[in-house]
Formats: sequence, structure tokens, C-alpha cells
Amino acid sequence: KKYVIGVDLGGTKITTAISDLTGKIIEKTTLATGSHLGEEVVMERIFESISMVLEASQLNVDEVRAIGIGSPGPLDSEKGTIITTPNLPFKNYNVVKPIERKFGIKTYLDNDANAAAIGEYTFGAGKGTKHMLYVTVSTGVGGGAVLNGRPYRGNTSNALEVGHMTIEPFSRHQCNCGKFGDLEALASGTAIAKRAKEAVQEGRETSLKNVDTITSYEVHQAYLEGDVVAMEILENAFMYMGIGLANLIVNFDPEVIVIGGGVSKIGDLFFDKIKEEARKRSFDFMFDATRILPAELGQEAGVVGALALALIESEEK
Ligand code: BGC
Ligand code: NA
Repeated sequence: KKYVIGVDLGGTKITTAISDLTGKIIEKTTLATGSHLGEEVVMERIFESISMVLEASQLNVDEVRAIGIGSPGPLDSEKGTIITTPNLPFKNYNVVKPIERKFGIKTYLDNDANAAAIGEYTFGAGKGTKHMLYVTVSTGVGGGAVLNGRPYRGNTSNALEVGHMTIEPFSRHQCNCGKFGDLEALASGTAIAKRAKEAVQEGRETSLKNVDTITSYEVHQAYLEGDVVAMEILENAFMYMGIGLANLIVNFDPEVIVIGGGVSKIGDLFFDKIKEEARKRSFDFMFDATRILPAELGQEAGVVGALALALIESEEK
């Protein structure tokens, strides 16, 4: 069996690809999704996307070694169930069994950031390292770890839920998970957008507009045009991100931290600020020993991660 399939299950789209055993993508497809659709409908779309790449590649199910699925968590990798997650309709729902039943292909479920970590480790910025962490800063904040060259999932398969570590006690900023003051509530793209909206509501002098649909990208554009409020919002979010990184550095002593996700694409401003803060809040020598690198797989990170998951899991078992 010389092929694997990867499914990147996102809040707004499902991206599915089929690749050979070197990770070279042969066919890829993207379907729209959303939590308003309900469990059965989203499950049908997953089936559909898998059928589409199989048909387009003209490959047969028995040429496929495994399917990997990356999904936001929390989830249970062993059982194959998604426990609950704000942007997907699944509640304690087994996504693995129906796929295995329908296609007869061994299927693995993992956290989206864990899968992206495996992808960056196998094909991207983490290649050749021993202890690598991956952090994604986008709508949510997620993390994954490859330690001693092996994915680390912890006891319940939810290790490195870095977005949900508390950074600010007594915070007024609430996360989608319900808690206050965790990293996702302070440093995610969602948090940046919320701060922009609040600034406008407070009547601050700013060029920020369309705050109901604003994204971190537009806040960055305003910053580039000299908007002081936008600058404050971004610098604050990146400061919190840097605190999160410092916590990861002193806890894991990693060789490399690869950072991806939409917010990280802001580039130098993002990386300079998070590094400055992480250095201040960890040991200098540990910080200096940690390389902080931008992700290399970019837009493809999710689906390549899911492919890499299918590859390594089917190799090992
Ligand atoms: C979820 C994580 C996920 C991250 C990025 C967070 O809200 O809790 O499981 O990895 O978002 O999608
Ligand atoms: Na994770």
C-alpha cells in the first residue's frame, strides 16, 4: 500500500488530500463546513471529501494504507471521538469508526496542532530535530510536541492544549472554552479582533473599522499605517504570546519551537515581540538554546500534518 489520506477538519472548511509515502500530494479538495450543519451532515462531507480524492486520483481503497484526521480538540485519539470543540458540531462523537466502516481503511484521529507538529517535524521547519514544539496562533491557539522524535500526546491525548493555559488570573477576557485569562483569550486572532471591537466601542481614536468582521490582518494593516490603538492591541497580544512561549521553554526545554497559524504571518513584528518577552521570562541560556522558527508548511500545514499522522502511525503499528 503506497498511499495515505489526510483530512484537516476545520471550523469553516474540510481539506482532504491523498499523497504517496513521501508526502507528495496527488489530489486535494476543500469542502465548506460549519457547526450549524450538524454532526451527520459534517460526517457526510468528510466521506464526500475522501471519495473525491480517491476518485480524482483513480486509486482504489486497497491501495491506501491509512487515513489521518486532524481536528481541534479536546478529543480522544484512542477512541476516535471528538469530545467538544466550539467550531465543530461534534459532541462526544466518534468520527473514526464510520470512516473505517465505509472505506475499510485504518483511520487515526489526532489534535490538529499535534498533527501539524508531526507535519513540520517530518516535512517542515522541525526536520532533523529531536525535541520540537509546534504552536499555532490563529482563530484558536494550539500546540503539539514531538519529543525524542516521537509525538507526545499525554494521558488523555490532549497534551499541549497551550491555548488553555492560564496567563492572566482575574482576567476579564473570556475564552470560547469558558475560562477567563487563558492564552487563547489573550493572544489568538479572535482575541485581537475582540480588542479592536472593544477599542472602538470605548470611543478610542483609531482608524479601525468594520469591527464586527475585523481580523488580526486588518489590525496589522492599521498598525502599519501608524494607528496607535492597533499597535497597542498587537503588542499586548504578542506580549501574552511571549509569556506562553517562556512557559513552554522552561517546561519542555525544547530544541525548536515552530510557530504557525494566521497571526504568525504578521512576521517580524510578531516574532520580535514574542521573542523579546519570552527571553525576559525564561532563563537566558534556555531561551538562547531554543530556536524559534516560522512554520514552513504554511496553508498546507493542517492537511500535510494529517497525512504525516497517517504515515507515522501506520508505520509504527
Ligand atoms: C483548541 C485546540 C486546537 C486549537 C487550534 C483550540 O481552541 O482547544 O485543540 O488545537 O484551538 O485549532
Ligand atoms: Na495539542
